Amino acid sequence: MKKTITCICGSYVYSFITKQQRKKMLSENLLKKLNTQVNLEFYSSNLYLQMSAWADNKGLSGTARFLREHAAEEMQHMHKIFDYIQDTGALAELGTIDKPEINLDNIRDVFEQTYEHEKFITKQINDLVDVTLQEKDFSTFNFLQWYVSEQHEEEKLFKSILDKIDIIGLDGRGLFMIDREVGNMLVHA
Ligand code: FEO
Repeated sequence: MKKTITCICGSYVYSFITKQQRKKMLSENLLKKLNTQVNLEFYSSNLYLQMSAWADNKGLSGTARFLREHAAEEMQHMHKIFDYIQDTGALAELGTIDKPEINLDNIRDVFEQTYEHEKFITKQINDLVDVTLQEKDFSTFNFLQWYVSEQHEEEKLFKSILDKIDIIGLDGRGLFMIDREVGNMLVHA
């Protein structure tokens, strides 16, 4: 609804429109896909938090710390898209977040599954970028470039941990060394 404010002296009238009345900057199609991505980032955060609990219970304190930090970072990813949607005048909508199902036997499983998950997220981001180009929505295309770079970094990070595991091995002191190494890694080291 259009709202009007009148100055107390009656000398001017100021009108403004509510957020919903602004020209829609996002198509319904893109809005739906961005909201799906909001929920996926939420899911990623829960997945890594659940994995951190598993690692903590196994005495892998470095891995637990790393995964917990990464879970917090996924929440930042979620908020960034959430805020972008709101900034366009559209409505960010939260959906049902699936329960993270983890099936882990050892530390290699953790990083194999995180690496696979990040590859899946990269595909989702790439699909989103593709839609922005089809729709000539260059503003959202520009916004998503941050995620394109971020996914490159995340895939690189998880792959590098897997490579270290394969070099060091999990026998003897290997597991201790890997856990310590992972615990000392910054998320974007
Ligand atoms: Fe938000 Fe790890 O991708």
